[in-house]
Amino acid sequence: MAGDAATFPWPASVPELDAVFAQIVGTEEGRSNPYPGYERLRSVAPVYRSGLGFTACTRYEECEIVLRDPRFGKDERDRRDALEERFGDLEMFPPEFLDMSRERRSMLFLNPPDHTRLRSLVNRAFTPRTVEHLRPQIASLVDGLLDELAEGEPVDVMDKLAFPLPVAVIGRMLGVPERDWRHFREVMGRATALLEPVISPEELGHAIQAQGELEAYFHGLVAERRARPGDDLVSSLIAVQEGTDKLTELELIGIAILIFGAGFETTTNLIGNGLLALLTHPEEMARLRDNPGLLRSAVDELLRYDSPVQFDGRLALEDSVVAGVPVKAHEEIITILGAANRDPAHFSDPDRLDLERDQGPPLSFAAGIHFCLGAPLARAEGQVFFGRLIERFRSIELATDTPVFRNRITLRGLSTLPVIVRS
Ligand code: HEM
Repeated sequence: MAGDAATFPWPASVPELDAVFAQIVGTEEGRSNPYPGYERLRSVAPVYRSGLGFTACTRYEECEIVLRDPRFGKDERDRRDALEERFGDLEMFPPEFLDMSRERRSMLFLNPPDHTRLRSLVNRAFTPRTVEHLRPQIASLVDGLLDELAEGEPVDVMDKLAFPLPVAVIGRMLGVPERDWRHFREVMGRATALLEPVISPEELGHAIQAQGELEAYFHGLVAERRARPGDDLVSSLIAVQEGTDKLTELELIGIAILIFGAGFETTTNLIGNGLLALLTHPEEMARLRDNPGLLRSAVDELLRYDSPVQFDGRLALEDSVVAGVPVKAHEEIITILGAANRDPAHFSDPDRLDLERDQGPPLSFAAGIHFCLGAPLARAEGQVFFGRLIERFRSIELATDTPVFRNRITLRGLSTLPVIVRS
């Protein structure tokens, strides 16, 4: 089908909805509580075409369709074109950043067959069965962190628990030495700004620099493991690379960076957002204390209620139609997972936190071929963490009336979460 307006009419954009969208992504108030804005988008036009050139989906059903349908995929166009479209000119970008050879892209940004090839190399390390064996190790990491927590005075959960646990779990799996873990909180924080829908030139510069630092670090780690292999995922990927022609050096480094970053940035925010939700719903916290059997459904409900990943998206690979809205090839479609998870057509009374909810999984791990590789691991970490935490402390109190969220929307999380614990 031709892409011009005569044969493929674009629906008019809805300026009112663009204003709501801008309020969500572009203001501190919107980012710290996007849910009223999502509700407005969902009720006026669940799939709407923005004057800014993308289409946004806010309901569960359409988000899931877009995430699962192979007509929507990742943007594999030359990075120059995509950046020029977004930022106007390319002067601010270092040449190595513009060099977006396919080899530099991680599976998260690729379509089949490359996506399938890369994902299949690491799939086995993250299956539910493999992850079950990690539970005792996760429990002992959690217990070690809880042992160190000062009682009776404010402590920052983000700093003392929410970051250190996931980085230790994924750092050990990958073979990243413990002395380096802490440093990555700041570096990865800068790098992931690239996933945001709105980014200042300054943040962009910092993010590009962080990306370079990550590549340099993992180059070094791969060289070290090549010389002295260990019992870790980087060493087994090196063995795959040497034994077959299935993996280039840049791809290997890309996988390591992706798994390391995805492994802690998001799970950190499952712990932070999840604990905040429990602390602001004491009746649900009490229910969980009385019935630890609820841990599995509780973690899925915490993921739904305040998802660590709020925005996801695809590129239309051909002209198509989503819920009656025509979408052109190369158009970006934003799937707002945080809005889909509060869709009343899918979850009854969606603004209520209900740890016993049994209405199917949230879209927090997305769907389709890019469904989160680490979902079983993230769930296991969440279940073990909340289980041990409430078992250890008789009382956990929020030590602020105004928890502060980071200035982010795609990866939603708190900057600090001060609490007072007592055993
Ligand atoms: C609560 C924690 C987590 C959340 C909410 C989360 C969320 C997501 C989402 C929404 C995607 C899909 C992105 C897309 O559709 O393009 C994704 C992909 C991915 N996640 Fe997670 N994630 C979490 C934890 C983890 C962990 C612990 C790992 C560690 C291995 C991990 C590794 C990955 C990888 C490798 C992908 C790319 C998969 C692909 O492109 O096929 N994630 N995650």
